[in-house]
Amino acid sequence: MTHSAQPSPLEAHACGPLTGKVRVPGDKSISHRALILGALSVGKTCISGLLEGEDVLNTAKSMRALGAQIDPTGDFAWEVHGVGIGGFAEPQKPLDFGNSGTGCRLVMGAVAGCPITAVFDGDASLRSRPMRRVLDPLELMGARTQASGEAGRLPLTLSGARYPVPITYRTPVASAQIKSAVLLAGLAAPGITTVIEQDASRDHTELMLKHFGADIVSTKEGPHGRRIELTGEPELHGADVVVPADPSSAAFPIVAGLIVEGSNIVLSDVMTNPLRTGLFTTLRDMGGSIEELEARSDAGEPMAQIRVRASKLRGVEVPPERAPSMIDEYLVLAVAASFAEGTTIMRGLHELRVKESDRLAATAAMLRVNGVKVEIAGDDLIVEGKGHVPGGGFVATHMDHRIAMSALVMGLASDKPVKIDDTAFIATSFPDFISMMRSLGAEFS
Ligand code: S3P
Repeated sequence: MTHSAQPSPLEAHACGPLTGKVRVPGDKSISHRALILGALSVGKTCISGLLEGEDVLNTAKSMRALGAQIDPTGDFAWEVHGVGIGGFAEPQKPLDFGNSGTGCRLVMGAVAGCPITAVFDGDASLRSRPMRRVLDPLELMGARTQASGEAGRLPLTLSGARYPVPITYRTPVASAQIKSAVLLAGLAAPGITTVIEQDASRDHTELMLKHFGADIVSTKEGPHGRRIELTGEPELHGADVVVPADPSSAAFPIVAGLIVEGSNIVLSDVMTNPLRTGLFTTLRDMGGSIEELEARSDAGEPMAQIRVRASKLRGVEVPPERAPSMIDEYLVLAVAASFAEGTTIMRGLHELRVKESDRLAATAAMLRVNGVKVEIAGDDLIVEGKGHVPGGGFVATHMDHRIAMSALVMGLASDKPVKIDDTAFIATSFPDFISMMRSLGAEFS
């Protein structure tokens, strides 16, 4: 499948001020990890605020197929009874991760430390994404893999190690997925598994492993990096996890609130982990009014209410070292940059080429078709902001939820409506996006 069987197009129109208070769904990264760590623990894990999007539900299915008991117990509340480290059963059927690179790569790490064989698969978008980056370290730890082609594409078969070996691994790119896969495999290895990152990526796996009882230490490495050391074979015990609202989903109403004149909105419980909030820093540099109120934290994850007021934005330069802390937000930042006065240069975006789609090319295409001047120079994206966007474009979403939501946000403030080819993939991360945006005043037809 390269798109939905029956695509549902949608058009966004210029609208009056967005107002009101909403809570966007639970954080996707934390939701995947809560299910996986719950499954690797002994005892009961209670999760509240789980993202019930397709990506996370596929991870829940894979954990069930591997022997964990996972049940919904109320609104966004789930209970997991784990099998313990090394306790996975061999699945009867291929594990299907749909559109989700995170679910797939993290579960590969968890399976790599168990003496079982599993087939990993996904949709056309996931089948086109590189898996070698995760298979390389997992093979060093003793896993064996059989994939289609050099780059290790799905579908692939992974046989976990009977005696996993702890390694010291320097990740070739800043990727929380690679880091997390190595750490999850390292849980089953005797001794210390070390991951070194030149640029720190999101640290939810480290924080949550600590919360579930693992001995894990993270220290600074160089100007922007981290060294993470995990002591293998810990007793992980079930724990309660409160999932904060996802800052990557909040990014869409936040940018909409900035560009739609007169808007004033509040988003509750948004996670403000500094390794995820590069977009907030950038939008503030651009002159955006984004306030954080009532800050608090749970299990090491900070969160706050975010108040956004419509603002005149100006172009800025975004340094490459900020990329890991806003890697999923460049599409919607490019939308904000299109409405700004002046040029925005976003540097060091090579990783965008291997996301749910080639997001560098897709962002440039989305802007161009709506009359915005944009250029890709090497790994940089350069957007010429003129203070308004002509719009009128038809945007191809390429099975990518974030292209779909970014284009719809653009249409809420552009001169002419913006239409997308398919809303279907929005359900992977933000199932209520359209109704929640409408409740704030957005106009879609
Ligand atoms: C994620 C890590 C990022 C991000 C993805 C979620 C995670 O991918 O793009 O949406 O939860 O670990 P990379 O680690 O490959 O950069």
